[in-house]
Amino acid sequence: MHARGTRAHDARRARGLPALAALALAAAACSSEEAVAPAPPPLPDIAYAGPGPLAGASGAGGFRLGAASAATQIEDRNPTTDWYVFTLPRAEGGLGRGADFVGDASRGFSKAIEDVALLQEMGLDSYRFSVEWARVEPQRDVIDEEALAHYDRLLDALVAAGIRPVITLHHFSNPVWVDDPRRTDCAGGPGDDNLCGLGHPEGGPLVIEEMAEHAALLAARFGDRVDDWGTLNEPFNYLLAAYGVGVFPPGKAALLGDLLGEFVPVLRDYLLAHAAAYRALKEADAVDADRDGGAADVGLSLSVGEWVPARSHRVSDDPEDVAARDRMAYVYNHLVVDTVLSGRLDVDLDGAPDVELPGLRGALDWLGVQYYFRAGVTGDGGLVPVLNLTPCVNGLDFGACVPPVDETFCVPAMRYEHHAPGLYGALADLGARYPGLPLVVTESGIATRVGERRAEVVVRALEQIERARGEGVDVRGYYHWSLYDNFEWAEGFAPRFGLYTVDYGTYERTATKGAEVLGEIARGRALTGALRAAYGGEGAMTPEPEAAEGFEGCSGTW
Ligand code: FCB
Repeated sequence: MHARGTRAHDARRARGLPALAALALAAAACSSEEAVAPAPPPLPDIAYAGPGPLAGASGAGGFRLGAASAATQIEDRNPTTDWYVFTLPRAEGGLGRGADFVGDASRGFSKAIEDVALLQEMGLDSYRFSVEWARVEPQRDVIDEEALAHYDRLLDALVAAGIRPVITLHHFSNPVWVDDPRRTDCAGGPGDDNLCGLGHPEGGPLVIEEMAEHAALLAARFGDRVDDWGTLNEPFNYLLAAYGVGVFPPGKAALLGDLLGEFVPVLRDYLLAHAAAYRALKEADAVDADRDGGAADVGLSLSVGEWVPARSHRVSDDPEDVAARDRMAYVYNHLVVDTVLSGRLDVDLDGAPDVELPGLRGALDWLGVQYYFRAGVTGDGGLVPVLNLTPCVNGLDFGACVPPVDETFCVPAMRYEHHAPGLYGALADLGARYPGLPLVVTESGIATRVGERRAEVVVRALEQIERARGEGVDVRGYYHWSLYDNFEWAEGFAPRFGLYTVDYGTYERTATKGAEVLGEIARGRALTGALRAAYGGEGAMTPEPEAAEGFEGCSGTW
């Protein structure tokens, strides 16, 4: 399992040796290879057609090269979001949760217009970002025109720069009044200042209605410049964090209680909110802004993991673990889209859909795919009730954590492994499961402070996407996460996901090697053989200095 000793890896390890010894090792490697094998043929370039529509047959073959962000993660101080009160220190009246207070994040609100230049510099053709619902509607049914005017200016700047906007409606954050993290007991029932959130018998339907109204408002205001809308970001992943284990606001933890009775209603309401928003966007956005034949192409973005069966810290072929892995892949990678396409929710999570959700069936024009990690799942002991499985997540290791395919794939800041071929696996799997549904990689990236690693992740993701496209999977683009460093939710500011790094003293943005390489690809509309040779493949990556001591960068203690 633990493939080591590729040539690149050996060369890098040689860097740690005294210069003469390293030279001798390199010379020996070269001469022995020269003697037995001719140089491999150069890698072919991968050329990209221009960007096209995300939905419909006419978009097949087009390819977008973009970057992604989310409002709460980048925008300046905003006391009306649930993340603000959730992370504000206790001494200042907040809940003091998470690694850091969100504060001014990356000052991406006040710098929104100048940040467009970063996208332009790289020659990207599209930008996926979210509009902060809490800014637009700080109190229930009170609209802040200034906030709308801000996003208007951003859209104008993007369109003027020839960059297609993709708006995410709901990316992990709420106005406080949707589900106040300070009042999760909801004593007294829902009211205008606290609807009590998804899953609440009276409050849930109100949240759904409000999300649809918000969607209609944005579509009516921005539809003349926006055709591509994403309703939800990583629904299952978000609900797990916010309502399953409570590490995101509102901080509810249904997994510790009644999974079917508490968590499934939250999922039901969120998918109903998707259905309502889908219809509202379609109705309110009548303008085909990019004249590609569709006024509103509406999708959602899914988080997918490469789940591997595991036991006692090793990859396992025990049928119990394989079945546990399959259950995990079902709920995490498939349940949401299965439900949207069929219109029926599997309320007891037994693999068979049962309850019809009105208005949901078929409400999906494209599917965003977001891939970050490979992780083990064991059927040996059931940390997650009902599903009877234990995954290796968030550094929690009950035997499900397995060694990485290569130790350089560990992402210390996130305590997981980034394994590039997992992206191919996810695309091939989703392409086969949902024929006719266009896919687009709306996020993929790595937390790193090493520019070469980011460049490697960019090039390798594009190679894995090409592998899937070569097999006929309809993938229409790649958006790197993220445009610049930002607030990584419960993990705070330590993980650095940006193509541009942010100096949190001056808020200056500086291009990484990742930005240079993605820029070269986007401007030339090709991933050249030379870039592939320098950064691509499936072998060892440039190591993260923090991981130098061994495996502790991935989660687990094998
Ligand atoms: C995804 C989120 C995104 C970012 C990346 C690293 O799960 O959608 O906001 O946090 O992970």
